[in-house]
Amino acid sequence: MAIEEIRRPDLGGPFPEHIAIIMDGNGRWAQERGMRRVFGHREGIGSVREITTESARMGVKSLTLYAFSVENWKRPRVEVRYLMRLLRRYLVDERPTLMKNDVRLRGIGRLDDLPTEARRVLRETEELTAANPGMCLRLALSYGGRTEIADAVKRLAEDVERGELAVADIGDETLRRYLYDPETPDPDLLIRTAGEMRLSNFLLWQASYSEIYVASKCWPEFRKQELLEALSDYARRVRKYGGLVADRPSPPERVAK
Ligand code: IPE
Ligand code: IPE
Ligand code: MG
Repeated sequence: MAIEEIRRPDLGGPFPEHIAIIMDGNGRWAQERGMRRVFGHREGIGSVREITTESARMGVKSLTLYAFSVENWKRPRVEVRYLMRLLRRYLVDERPTLMKNDVRLRGIGRLDDLPTEARRVLRETEELTAANPGMCLRLALSYGGRTEIADAVKRLAEDVERGELAVADIGDETLRRYLYDPETPDPDLLIRTAGEMRLSNFLLWQASYSEIYVASKCWPEFRKQELLEALSDYARRVRKYGGLVADRPSPPERVAK
């Protein structure tokens, strides 16, 4: 184990096993500073590194980062090209940090859409880190929630056609088996940066009961301190899944005065 010690902060309540983040606001961050949008993407890599490392050290089991959506291909060609170059460089440069922190990297999404070289270094980094025992870092690349569900349904239907699955046996959990990464449990905490309050096609199936936290800071400024703020907010949430938790004592700040 390369990480000396997992240090889970005591925030007075539950701690999320799986955190998913919509890393938004790179362009705005740069433009507010009179720079071109792409500088925001470059700066965002620093946040990816810090949040990954801190999450791994705090004992988060899975971290899913929304890095590029299926819809993002619609952006100007120069921006898409820059993002793909950045991805390629990140996947190579980050290897020592991932190894040092025991992180396993995995891509989820329509990975075949990625340029050949990006696909190749992604595979290499996945293989290099596959046996790491710590946190799983899932990079959502050319990812779309609806696309994921459509892809899953297609494969499920093929199994029905082949007679390997009976229609009568299909339930919620059956569909999950056909998603990109069925082994990873649903995110407990879903963070979006830059103040926007929408899912933008992220983890539509898996986020059904995730606790949502919106940070006002843009992604390049979302660092350890901001992560801790999100975690302490999460520690005060009461998760009911449609049921009742009347017996649960209220955290101190929620007790009526
Ligand atoms: C998020 O930042 C990064 C990607 C979607 C690839 P944006 O590029 O969306 O930045 P804003 O939201 O336009 O500021
Ligand atoms: C969501 O951000 C996608 C990623 C963070 C990769 P967008 O910037 O693409 O989302 P919208 O367009 O504001 O909904
Ligand atoms: Mg955006």
